[in-house]
Amino acid sequence: MKIIKVDTHKTLSQVCAFMFEEQINKKPNSKICFATGSSPVQTYIELIKKYNQGLLDFSQITTFNLDEYVGIPTTNKCSYHYFMDGNLFNHINVKRENINFPNGNGNVVEEAKKYEEIIKKHGGIDFTILGIGTNGHIAFNEPGSTISDRTREVQLTQSTIESNKIYFDKPSDMPLTAISMGIGTILESKKIVLIASGTSKANAIRDMVLGPVSPECPASFLQLHNDVTVIVDEEAGKYI
Ligand code: F6R
Repeated sequence: MKIIKVDTHKTLSQVCAFMFEEQINKKPNSKICFATGSSPVQTYIELIKKYNQGLLDFSQITTFNLDEYVGIPTTNKCSYHYFMDGNLFNHINVKRENINFPNGNGNVVEEAKKYEEIIKKHGGIDFTILGIGTNGHIAFNEPGSTISDRTREVQLTQSTIESNKIYFDKPSDMPLTAISMGIGTILESKKIVLIASGTSKANAIRDMVLGPVSPECPASFLQLHNDVTVIVDEEAGKYI
């Protein structure tokens, strides 16, 4: 794992956006996997800036997202479809037909299989942006997840429900399950960049980088990948 420690969340986002730019310049038709949540929001703002400055062209990329809640419509303002539209896709020239998400509605077992097939059909993912949960989850691979996990429906843990329910009008509307790429799916991405900021992430970052590779900290499986860059601010990186 390559570790980049920076002073602030803003710098972290600029570094992540720079790495993204390098990727697209090297391979304009890259297959990109995006994360949602608070961690990448500033990175997406940086990407939009670069697009507006003419430094980035998204017209040839194909996108995938890590996860989506099960059982809420894609138009729901808490869905990850809605998040990606509002924070990135509506502001850049990515082609609508090139945007892919795991589908959390309908027959989720079938949808999960289909998602894996679509990724394979595109020749796999080139570049993945990840956040990390305070319990060490990546995507919605909660503690207990293993390296052989593929896209599937997952139960969210209480800590994830607590962190994410604030986004729902009524906390009881928060789904208890999600459809998520598995650790196995994520590790097949050619390049992975994980970003984290703030003290609340410090323990998870320590366990991911220094701890044993173990389902107790799903992000620790990233130690097994040969091209992972971890970008942290001082607070998130204070134990490494
Ligand atoms: C979201 C995702 C999650 C988040 C993680 C951190 O697509 O995959 O693993 O990256 O829960 O969330 P934030 O960034 O909100 O702290």
